[in-house]
Amino acid sequence: TTIPKYVTVLPLTAPMPVSGRHGGIDEYQIAMRQFAQQVLPKGMPRTTVWGYGSLSHPDTFRFPGRIIEARYGRPVRVDWVNDLVDRRGRYLPHLLAVDQTIHWANPPGGIAGRDSTPTFTSTPGPYTGPVPLVTHLHGALTQQESDGYAEAWYLPRACDIPRGYARVGSWYDRFQAAFADRYGVRWRPGSATFQYPNEQPAAFLWYHDHVLGMTRLNIYAGLAGGYILRGGPSDLPAGTLPGTTAAAQRDGRPGPGHYEIPLVIQDRSFRTDGSLFYPESRAFFDGYTGPYIPYTDVPPIWNPEFFSDTMVVNGATWPVLPVERRRYRLRLLNGCNSRSLILSIAANPTARPAQPVLPFWQIGTRNSFLPDPVRVEKLVMGNAYRVDAIVDFSNVPEGTELYLVNEGPDAPLSGYDNPGEPTNPQTTGQVLKFVVGARQGTDRSAPPDHLSLPPVPTLRQAVRTRKLALLEQENPDVGPVEVLLGIVDENGTAVPLEWDAPVTEIATMGENEIWEFHNTTADAHPIHLHDTQFRLIGRGPDGTTPPAPQELGLIDTILAYPNEITRILARFANPGRYVWHCHIVEHEDNEMMRPIDVLPAGA
Ligand code: C2O
Ligand code: CU
Repeated sequence: TTIPKYVTVLPLTAPMPVSGRHGGIDEYQIAMRQFAQQVLPKGMPRTTVWGYGSLSHPDTFRFPGRIIEARYGRPVRVDWVNDLVDRRGRYLPHLLAVDQTIHWANPPGGIAGRDSTPTFTSTPGPYTGPVPLVTHLHGALTQQESDGYAEAWYLPRACDIPRGYARVGSWYDRFQAAFADRYGVRWRPGSATFQYPNEQPAAFLWYHDHVLGMTRLNIYAGLAGGYILRGGPSDLPAGTLPGTTAAAQRDGRPGPGHYEIPLVIQDRSFRTDGSLFYPESRAFFDGYTGPYIPYTDVPPIWNPEFFSDTMVVNGATWPVLPVERRRYRLRLLNGCNSRSLILSIAANPTARPAQPVLPFWQIGTRNSFLPDPVRVEKLVMGNAYRVDAIVDFSNVPEGTELYLVNEGPDAPLSGYDNPGEPTNPQTTGQVLKFVVGARQGTDRSAPPDHLSLPPVPTLRQAVRTRKLALLEQENPDVGPVEVLLGIVDENGTAVPLEWDAPVTEIATMGENEIWEFHNTTADAHPIHLHDTQFRLIGRGPDGTTPPAPQELGLIDTILAYPNEITRILARFANPGRYVWHCHIVEHEDNEMMRPIDVLPAGA
């Protein structure tokens, strides 16, 4: 069976409902649950997924989670509840095969101080116990205890957790205590309460699971959602950009009044029964045909990357978006596990190279607006990238059908000017169809080429430069065993460091640092730092090629291309323990993540 394209209207939903507003704080109770959703077109089987929803509103559970609408300066406090249990309160096992041999959030082996004591035997099978979770708000600046540290996970509050299991990760208790000290609120068992101050430029952030060694599986199962921060000195006055009326937003379907469109783009594969397909063994990558590779140095289930064959936008495969002849504001997110996207709007969905017929006016990036709108024909989006863009359909004849197409390859990008072989134009080479119709009412939004954007906060001179390395460990028979971060030492040698090695990145709050990523691998890696919004200052073989205009602005994730030095200027916002990692989540899960310690100012 093939999945018919462009039969489902793009799903849009009302925002995540608040559960209370007290003392100027928006409070949410958000649970992670398992449920069935019509991801494939109607008439095809439903898919069992994981998603987020408001604990008290069962009808709000979705993959991806509903958008949290936040206002500048008004904190959001979320009680994130691990509710992966059945109706009788018994824990639900993972939907996908969990590799027990990589360094992971290991409840059976999780004894104080260490999350992973590998429990593999000679032929290790997947883990079937209760699932640890912890949520990170990607792009948010927040205190350490609210950041969703990979080892601050927790199991559901089920009564049948096997004896001897750790119910929380090794960092949970100290962060719970820190949160209680700061806000006078204790976390309830099976959950963690995080607070986001929202004192940062308006932007499209996203929340997703971040547990050690299982993030790829939890996100793939559906644990991701959008978060839009509005207002404050770094936003535009309401009405300047195409927007959505409150009534249209409540209605939750595309139509009149709905001119700001979030697009959460993810690739997925499906079995004929509608279930999610994710490789259950390393065999998928290396051609091995046995059930599991006997334990050597090769993780038996982990695959270095996974590129699926179906595009899913806002939780529906290949949707169609009816648009009016007017301007739209698209808020795009690359929520794929491994795939970089190269997006354009074309009349012919399968011609390669893609022939763009309408440009994107890019106005914003991951964490802020750009200094000026930039006309872009093809958007290059690494994993976790967001793009804020205006697309003007005013001059497109009624009845025209246009396609959002993707030329991102079934591999990591191989260079800045050399993306690699485009993916299959019949499948993941297509994302969404626009059908252009008559305009309802007047378009009062400002034309993008005349738009003046709010100033982007500047960063001053750096006090130090760090040289960091991106490396790969190969097994000659089966390919990559781990992709790693590390440091470049005084002799210029790249030294790999695993997650557990002593912290080498120790920064001071408020001080500016240059981080240089020396990529010694053959692949581009999207590098993400927590607790900072940084700028790209240079790339290329010696790190001196200036950023393109659409690469200006504040960002939290940057593609580091192979055989290049990528230089960023960063300042850490809060003291404490944070992380930096590759956002190819398969890499992140298998050691391509490192801790950062940020010392208080003046320390
Ligand atoms: Cu989007 Cu550390 O993650
Ligand atoms: Cu990577």
